[in-house]
Amino acid sequence: MLAKGAKIALLEGMSSTSTVVTTDLFQYIQGLGPGDDALLQGLKAAAEKAGIPAIWISPEQGHLMQVLLRLAGARRVVEVGTLAGYSALWMARALPAGGTLDTLELSPVHAAFARDWIGRSEVADRVRVHEGPAADQLPAFAAASADAFFIDADKKSYPRYFEEALRILRPGGLLLVDNAFAFGQILDPAATDPDVAAIRRFNQLVSQDSRVDGTIVAIGDGLWVGVKRDAPAR
Ligand code: SAH
Ligand code: DHB
Ligand code: MG
Repeated sequence: MLAKGAKIALLEGMSSTSTVVTTDLFQYIQGLGPGDDALLQGLKAAAEKAGIPAIWISPEQGHLMQVLLRLAGARRVVEVGTLAGYSALWMARALPAGGTLDTLELSPVHAAFARDWIGRSEVADRVRVHEGPAADQLPAFAAASADAFFIDADKKSYPRYFEEALRILRPGGLLLVDNAFAFGQILDPAATDPDVAAIRRFNQLVSQDSRVDGTIVAIGDGLWVGVKRDAPAR
């Protein structure tokens, strides 16, 4: 337990009163959130039975993404990496009537599963699952046509999806990118997974790109939350 008001050095020559999120504190946050309803619980159980990997976002992250989508007034959302449709359901539920979520998925097995489970939800009419490699499909989306864009597919392609996101998002649009902590290995010098190296490079790239103003939120496996800046006046 940290003493009340304990200070944690964050940067050389600077200190701050950030509170370390301990397991207890995290469980407290979880207990205050909405968690998974019966449909999301059923989806997860069926996905595990079907051998689909349990690499969906956490409920806390889903809830945060809903709040952010509502703040952004999002009506048009694009997702790269559908898996079982879990994050798609969280996001679709934050859209107003007439809103749309286009979600892109490489695996025919994942796409079919997601279509099935999204079809059982009250937001089925808002969601379109597009099957195939995302890089082949994104060029078909019009420039400045989306209010929010969530990247959560193959990590080596994140820079490419990032470029497409900056084209497809409207100025002021919301950019979300999963796994900024690289499965918890971002700071592990012994990490050998090429996806970890890809995410390290990606995090540097985002932090240095003036077209987006973003920060990593310490939720789930690290979530980039950014806003596409207006084009500079000329
Ligand atoms: N967003 C989901 C989890 C996505 S897991 C959730 O939180 O519920 C990553 C998904 O990206 C997997 O289903 C994988 O098949 C898919 N994927 C991998 N490479 C892809 C590609 N090139 N194009 C589209 N999807 C891809
Ligand atoms: C993996 C991918 C993800 O998007 C994620 O959130 C967790 C794990 C993976 O490829 O193992
Ligand atoms: Mg992910």
